[in-house]
Amino acid sequence: MKTKLIAPSLLSADFGNLERDIEMLNRSQADWLHIDVMDGRFVPNISFGFPVMKTVHQHARKFVDVHLMIVEPEKYVEEFISMGADLISVHYEACTHLHRVINLIQDKGAKAGVVLNPATPVLMLEDIIADVDLVLLMSVNPGFGGQKFIENTYKKIAETKDLIVSNNSTALIQIDGGVNLDNAAKLFEAGADVLVAGNAVFSSESPERTIELLKI
Ligand code: DX5
Ligand code: ZN
Repeated sequence: MKTKLIAPSLLSADFGNLERDIEMLNRSQADWLHIDVMDGRFVPNISFGFPVMKTVHQHARKFVDVHLMIVEPEKYVEEFISMGADLISVHYEACTHLHRVINLIQDKGAKAGVVLNPATPVLMLEDIIADVDLVLLMSVNPGFGGQKFIENTYKKIAETKDLIVSNNSTALIQIDGGVNLDNAAKLFEAGADVLVAGNAVFSSESPERTIELLKI
């Protein structure tokens, strides 16, 4: 069965009306809720942390997908899981002991993903692909919503698919950054299973309708 999941990113939500926006996502056809955590060190921006995660935990009825753009993610994994994270993705570039962090996330009861920045080659995943539940390919440089999609991502999707097949891995492929109504169908066609969309959803006139359209 072909997976076609949409994960709206809360980064583009209205933080003055967070509960309202989470309820809108609950009603919508969104499959996952994507939570972008930035520390101002791994990426040149600070987003939010546990207080926002607490609100998400109280209201979200969707699968909660946490994308950690932070150094030393192993320090915070347990707390995010205790606050309702169903999946945690950590950056390859931020983990000296990636295998250990992936095991920690899974041992604590969540799914584990690994993220690659646009300039990190897919072949770096060769010795971890069998252990991860998801590969997140960044299609922009992480740190900000609303950036332009990097076209080289299509090549990386094909390479990731090959790596998954040749290692009998069950990992899903997720794409994050610059996803919109013009490229979503093409990305699913190329082999993506999960698309993150922030700006495209929240800056549209009808976020619920946009989520529907991203799946077509
Ligand atoms: C970027 C974040 C993305 C971001 C995507 O660092 O990881 O999840 O919110 O935003 P858009 O869809 O606006 O490019
Ligand atoms: Zn993200």
